[in-house]
Amino acid sequence: MDKKKPVTNITSMLTETRVFPPAKEFSKQAHVKSMAEYKKLYNESIKSPEKFWGKQGKNELAWFKPFSKVMQWKAPNAKWFLGGKLNVSYNCLDKWLNTPTANKAALIWEGEPAAPGKVGEERTLTYKQLHHEVCLFANVLKRNGIKKGDRIIIYLPMVPEAAIAMLACSRVGAIHSVVFGGFSAQSVADRIQDCQAKMVITSDGGFRRGAVVPLKKNVDDALMIEDANNGLLAKTIERVVVLKRSGNEVQMHTGRDIWWHEEVSLVDAHCPAEKMDSEAPLFILYTSGSTGKPKGILHSTAGYLLGAKITTKYVFDIKDTDVYWCTADIGWVTGHSYVVYGPLANGATSLMYEGAPNWPEPDRFWRIVAKYGVTVLYTAPTAIRAFMKWGTEWPKKHDLSSLRLLGSVGEPINPEAWMWYHEFIGGKRCPIVDTWWQTETGNIMITPLPGVTPTKPGSATLPFFGILPEVVDDNGKPVPKGSGGKLVIRKPWPSMLRGIWGDPKRFVETYWSEVKGSYFTGDGVRQDKDGYFWIVGRIDDVLNVAGHRIGTAEVESALVSNPKVAEAAVVGRPDELKGQAMVVFVTLKTGVKASEQLKTELRNHVGKEIGAVAKPDDVRFAEALPKTRSGKIMRRLLKQIASGVDIKGDTTTLEDFSVLAKLTSDE
Ligand code: PRX
Repeated sequence: MDKKKPVTNITSMLTETRVFPPAKEFSKQAHVKSMAEYKKLYNESIKSPEKFWGKQGKNELAWFKPFSKVMQWKAPNAKWFLGGKLNVSYNCLDKWLNTPTANKAALIWEGEPAAPGKVGEERTLTYKQLHHEVCLFANVLKRNGIKKGDRIIIYLPMVPEAAIAMLACSRVGAIHSVVFGGFSAQSVADRIQDCQAKMVITSDGGFRRGAVVPLKKNVDDALMIEDANNGLLAKTIERVVVLKRSGNEVQMHTGRDIWWHEEVSLVDAHCPAEKMDSEAPLFILYTSGSTGKPKGILHSTAGYLLGAKITTKYVFDIKDTDVYWCTADIGWVTGHSYVVYGPLANGATSLMYEGAPNWPEPDRFWRIVAKYGVTVLYTAPTAIRAFMKWGTEWPKKHDLSSLRLLGSVGEPINPEAWMWYHEFIGGKRCPIVDTWWQTETGNIMITPLPGVTPTKPGSATLPFFGILPEVVDDNGKPVPKGSGGKLVIRKPWPSMLRGIWGDPKRFVETYWSEVKGSYFTGDGVRQDKDGYFWIVGRIDDVLNVAGHRIGTAEVESALVSNPKVAEAAVVGRPDELKGQAMVVFVTLKTGVKASEQLKTELRNHVGKEIGAVAKPDDVRFAEALPKTRSGKIMRRLLKQIASGVDIKGDTTTLEDFSVLAKLTSDE
């Protein structure tokens, strides 16, 4: 990454003028009812953060021992709710046991396999049942030697056991790291190695678009991968717990691998929650950055839980009667905060769906909404654009009148998709909350409040309580309203990341060096005359493909690990469906011929190294890559070429950029 990228080129072309104020009936019943109320609370949260957060922490969380100090802040290190003791799984489960919530659905789950026109397998777990399952599995962890602070990899499909495993880890004080099921064996091994995990929790397989993803086989492969010294990369693993889900055959390694269902039959369900320090690590979640190695983003107990809880409450206006559905996979931070921790900490009903939105037909989501009476739906722009493409006949087949609120996350939502979502899913009556945040921020940071904020299609609007975002230039100076700049956050907030696992230097360099004393988000942004934030996208070398963060350097290093590749450069180009598509420019080793076959081979190679999510959309072969005189690849030029030049005819002809390079001055 070029350290100081100029942001002067960030100009937002959007001139969206439509404004959608919340309906009076919605505001009347909302947790926050008016702009005046929002402003009062917001101003208090910024002027007296300790008072504001102290009150929230005390009222919203259940403590074994109350905290004695609200926060301690010396950039970049924050500590929140010092001296307090609590447990996340206690707050999500035990807290509800002697209340009417105990017998309410905590999780409603639907499996993927289903015949056309039919709904799939379903399971409902009440708070009481979920508590029981979590206690059993927590005892399985203990039985297998797991102690406070141990790291556990969770590599599961979207099944209730994924949430059970996360909650069981938090119950015994183990740190979970969920790895998305679309990542490869290599990625699993790298993550195990990075956090020195003792255990992997996986399943035989998971269903995805009718096929079975062989998760256990991937784990077996991961545990055989060698490091540079011919030792095993993932040698810290002592146990692999295997859940039976898809029924495919798996190899069980005696002494290492154990079945979930056998283990839970060996323990009882008595398992008091460990008393954890407020700042005890809760989870590590790996995400892409601008260098080759994914970053293990570290979140801690009290601050994270409080953030997840109150954003769920206020942004999704959660009520006891809601059936709330966040469609994200638990392998991403959205799944952590808004499928599991946020909803359960509020005693809400959270719906989980295992599979793809177009399996067996493109109306699966709408069938689910109608079947369960979903009231709040939170999904991603890339999904909305896919629904637009599939056509309005699919949502029109179903009764979507239970919906009262819609949400969007993961990338900027284009006004056209916003309007479609508003009209065809929300029936023009549901507010849309376009929520901006990141793995690092832990929870929603910039967002409308549904009963309060007049929304503008494409804008994430205003900051949440306690969040002080600002648009700054290259020197860290605030820019006038209307101009573009870098998005920074000026004040600490409870759910902020506590570091990058094992790499304090990179933590400081990535987030705290760009603008002194402030958290640097890596996003470009513009603020309009009403103070609304319009996120433009990443300004570092990170792509946002279908809402997934993918580091270009990571893909480049995967490509050059193929013996046929000499050099590679990865850039994004705008894509109607995915937001951004990934284009890779490759130069080949002498004697290697470009071919369609090689393109497929390279795409699969990246799939194997990182995972299917990172497979490039286009592979283009080049004679040489355009470089500056100092030898840096001219990415901006490649980006233009990737987005602007249509390749026709023989696409395997080597493209020669040397002339272009000569025409352009040093970047
Ligand atoms: O560029 C922003 C984009 O997604 C990035 C964070 O990605 P990740 O850590 O994977 O978390 C995704 C889910 C929170 C941000 O830096 N992004 C996320 N939400 C929005 C967004 N861009 C515009 N509008 C959003 N609502």
